[in-house]
Amino acid sequence: MDRIRIQGPCRLQGTVRASGAKNAVLPELAATLLLEGPVTLRNVPVVRDVQTMIKVLRHLGVRSLKLEGNSLSAEGGAAGDPEAPYDLVRTMRASILVLGPLLARLGRAKVSLPGGCAIGARPIDYHIEALRRMGADVSIEHGYVVASCARLKGAEIVFDDRTVTGTENVMMAATLAEGRTVLKNCALEPEVVDLARFLNACGARIDGAGTGRIVVEGVPRLRGTAHTVIPDRIETGTFLMAAAATRSGITIERCDPSHLDSVLDKLQECGVVLRRGPDSITVEPDGALRAANVTTRPYPDFPTDLQAQFMALAARAEGVSIVTETVFENRFMHVGELRRMGARIVEDGQTAIVAGPSPLLGAQVMASDLRASACLIVAGLAAAGETTIHRAYHIDRGYEKVETKFQGLGARIERIS
Ligand code: EPU
Repeated sequence: MDRIRIQGPCRLQGTVRASGAKNAVLPELAATLLLEGPVTLRNVPVVRDVQTMIKVLRHLGVRSLKLEGNSLSAEGGAAGDPEAPYDLVRTMRASILVLGPLLARLGRAKVSLPGGCAIGARPIDYHIEALRRMGADVSIEHGYVVASCARLKGAEIVFDDRTVTGTENVMMAATLAEGRTVLKNCALEPEVVDLARFLNACGARIDGAGTGRIVVEGVPRLRGTAHTVIPDRIETGTFLMAAAATRSGITIERCDPSHLDSVLDKLQECGVVLRRGPDSITVEPDGALRAANVTTRPYPDFPTDLQAQFMALAARAEGVSIVTETVFENRFMHVGELRRMGARIVEDGQTAIVAGPSPLLGAQVMASDLRASACLIVAGLAAAGETTIHRAYHIDRGYEKVETKFQGLGARIERIS
């Protein structure tokens, strides 16, 4: 199993380019099931979750799927057996995103029910309830979600809580439904907006993505198009945290600063000096790093997907930071590993109290999930001595060429196979 080894502390410098957003391209790939004709996605990040979704789609009959560099082409449309099997789904929860498109396109779907997850229970009851309201017959049989319908019918759906993939799944299903679907209390994430932009370019009629109320007028068919995926705001945020934690000056290019308002505000509160360009962010190496409190919430608030990386930075900041996780119930797996590196952190339920600054020391640590591994990279770059991160495969799920990108910024980081 691969490990990542870092010789710290590192001073980063130079420029790095943001990759395309994993959490935008995954639903967009699932949406190819809805389409007829050729489709091209550009700025696709070559990460493990994308490769897993490609396998799922091949299994579901999407033809001519080719990933060349960062450009993916395919012949849209689901065909044959509409079953996403356990062996594929268990490696990636986001496979559930094929449920809405399969049902809308073929009138049938059988998708393995994602199991528990390292960061929380993560049920899919909102997805299922919404599809039922659109007329689908949905049952859970032998660990699978089994759904069928003649043609989905437009409905009014109010999500109990904001759910990102729930909003995306139902929005996709509604594009080919009969009549108008009104979705309320929708997720506001930029990835939802990008998916709607892609689907509209394919002929869908979606209005209001990025607000709490999305209206979809069903159409009989969707065609393929060429679409460029938005930059990954979580990858960008990870570089920002790494620069701040190591007191480095770097520029992140081809990102979208407007997707990171809450993160940039928080870093400025910590004393980090930043400059925003239209599609770049520069971190200056000056200023003292101060503690700040963070509470994760759905977009546009501070993202849960950057909570772990922020905690590594908080360990290096002067003063006490209180970090509260409200999106997932078990997303503090990195705390014990940060403690092994010398961070002083006390956990109290969904809150972690970080007393800084701690002189972090390199150690052997274990990655438990994608964002926890990003946190350990940030901590390893800031720590004195050698850090080895075990189970590095977690990072490969969502960060493209992570060690190459950090090497380009001057970090002493390598992969050991
Ligand atoms: N929830 C339910 N029932 C549902 C759906 C969600 O109770 O039917 C709960 C969840 O358990 C959670 C909360 O609602 O407590 C929010 O979950 P959400 O559905 O928004 O999360 P998700 O769609 O499964 C996406 C991202 C995650 C990211 C979250 C929150 C994708 C593919 N995944 O997950 O990304 O953390 O939104 O922003 O878009 C990651 O990239 O590392 C990652 C975990």
